[in-house]
Amino acid sequence: MANIKTIGVLTSGGDAPGMNAAIRAVVRTALANGLNVKGIRRGYSGLLEEDIIDMDARSVSDIIQRGGTILYTARSKEFMTSEGQDKGAEICRKHNIDGLVVIGGDGSFRGAGKLAERGINTVGVPGTIDLDIACTDYTIGFDTAVNTAMEAIDKVRDTSTSHERCSIIEVMGRNAGYIALWCGIANGAEDVLITERYDHDEQRIIDNIIEKRKIGKKHHIIVNAEGIGDSYGMAKRIEEATGMEARATIIGHIQRGGSPTCTDRVYASAMGAIAVDLLCQGASNRVVGYRDGKYVDYDIQEALSMTKDVDQYLYDMCRKLSR
Ligand code: ADP
Ligand code: F6P
Repeated sequence: MANIKTIGVLTSGGDAPGMNAAIRAVVRTALANGLNVKGIRRGYSGLLEEDIIDMDARSVSDIIQRGGTILYTARSKEFMTSEGQDKGAEICRKHNIDGLVVIGGDGSFRGAGKLAERGINTVGVPGTIDLDIACTDYTIGFDTAVNTAMEAIDKVRDTSTSHERCSIIEVMGRNAGYIALWCGIANGAEDVLITERYDHDEQRIIDNIIEKRKIGKKHHIIVNAEGIGDSYGMAKRIEEATGMEARATIIGHIQRGGSPTCTDRVYASAMGAIAVDLLCQGASNRVVGYRDGKYVDYDIQEALSMTKDVDQYLYDMCRKLSR
């Protein structure tokens, strides 16, 4: 066991439902191991401003069911600089933080790696609705976000069918198409456009709409990933080319909020607890993941060098099922 006395925890980058469950698990696992816990508010930005609070078991009461992050989150330009990272490590030392859990995405892990290089023991926990972290099949928040998007698309579908319209619905995901593909399947969309596969052949979409109208489809749902964007322009062009009324809906930040699903609460709790256990065992510069049915951990640089792609079978299946 390492001689760790105080654990710090921060959330960084975009918030994600389930981050609070992870914070709760970090705090209470650390307390169960006889450690002190400090919460760093507003990510690396708060670290540089020494926005640091003592946390006890009651600090994380009544949060497991809440979306967002009680520690707030931010993006820090200053921490991208070497001077900022030196200052961050110094502040950790000043507050006796000898183990730090960073809950966030790839960018946040890069920051954690920089602190580890400067002697601060760090472990990352994957928190992003985008599911775009290569070393893990699960990221905190994806399950809640994709369910929120799915429910929203079901509602758009009702009105789309009633009016016999084409609906282009844009979902989040930055450059990744996981939310779009899962909704494409779960909502039975006629088309799903994701950056990983889209060839920008709008004529194919138009031909598909005309074809589907001929075989009796009452609506045409297109799930469009944020990385492709231009949903309003697409709706206008499709309406002009097909004569079918078209409307665009951008679901937006609704996908980032709300009470986390059971999956997000359970996985986030497990990952927060594992991060503390790793620090107690003397680990540093690691990222927790979930792969092939097991919780795993990787060296941060190794994790950041990995790549992943949407499942080709699921993508092809999605198209086949929309007949
Ligand atoms: P995410 O963690 O969701 O990928 P960002 O990419 O916005 O979100 O990163 C969150 C924060 O992590 C940034 O604002 C910055 O403070 C820090 N960060 C990102 N990349 C680096 C880097 N290369 N070196 C140091 N810190 C970084
Ligand atoms: O990474 C999560 C995410 O919601 C992405 O899906 C989206 O591209 C981005 O963050 C939006 O960021 P902001 O909240 O800064 O607009």
